Amino acid sequence: MNLIDGKRIAQDVVAELASEIARLEGPKPSIAFIRVGEDPASVSYVRSKNRTAETIGITPLLIELPDTVTQEELFAQVDKLNADPAVNGILIQSPLPSHLDEQTAFNRISVEKDVDGFHTSNAGRLVQEDPDGFVSCTPAGILEICHREGISLEGKHVVVIGRSLIVGKTFALLAMQKGPQANATVTVCHSRTRNLPEIARTADVIVAAIGRPGFVTPDMVREGAVVIDVGINRVENPSAKRGYRIVGDVDFQAVAPLASRITPVPGGVGPMTVAMLMKNTFKAYKLQATS
Ligand code: GUN
Repeated sequence: MNLIDGKRIAQDVVAELASEIARLEGPKPSIAFIRVGEDPASVSYVRSKNRTAETIGITPLLIELPDTVTQEELFAQVDKLNADPAVNGILIQSPLPSHLDEQTAFNRISVEKDVDGFHTSNAGRLVQEDPDGFVSCTPAGILEICHREGISLEGKHVVVIGRSLIVGKTFALLAMQKGPQANATVTVCHSRTRNLPEIARTADVIVAAIGRPGFVTPDMVREGAVVIDVGINRVENPSAKRGYRIVGDVDFQAVAPLASRITPVPGGVGPMTVAMLMKNTFKAYKLQATS
């Protein structure tokens, strides 16, 4: 079967972390989640991160702020967590309400506790290939999937569709790094790219992260390519319980028969994001213990 079971891979990563954490003596790692407002997707994501942390022995701290919170109040919370030695990682769930500037908020988090990897300095550390930096969780999860599934990127042509900081741009940087798990030749396509299907057809590995349901169609995929679908799109579906269903950026039914390996949505890249957040939190804990 050519399906990549991201859920199982994420469970493996989390189980390995749980057994390492169980062996720790003294205080356990800890992560603080800051959620502003009641955006339903954010409520659900933070709940899932909180639950996974608890399950594997990372102490979660959930801070829920009203969507009327001022920047000063939000920063005061972040400063308190930065100063608390019992807190190893801090995450501010995105999106924030429009009166708050996200990047300024991410940059308020201490670089050593920025387990989301969204701080400007951690972006810089990624460019400089600093192994002690934090890489944002979804791109790191894609690389982990490739590693664990024996998908080598060495010398391959990786076509990333989408240039967001959270996924496309960061994954492009990761895949082109020097190192045994990377060394790819990378092309980044986006909404303004001319001849996108022709470029995508030259890919050994396609990473679809453009945020449009079913964007990647069979005419964009060479037979035998690996297809990684990062999309999480809600499309209306009156027969579904919630009135919508989640689909990826790839037209799965049409593309799957062409691909040598493909991630489904849901159950592909999604679960890896939470697993890598836990991995980053444990990394922060270990780095802080030795600094
Ligand atoms: N919103 C959607 N994905 C993410 C993520 O990876 N981290 C944070 N902080 N917010 C998100």
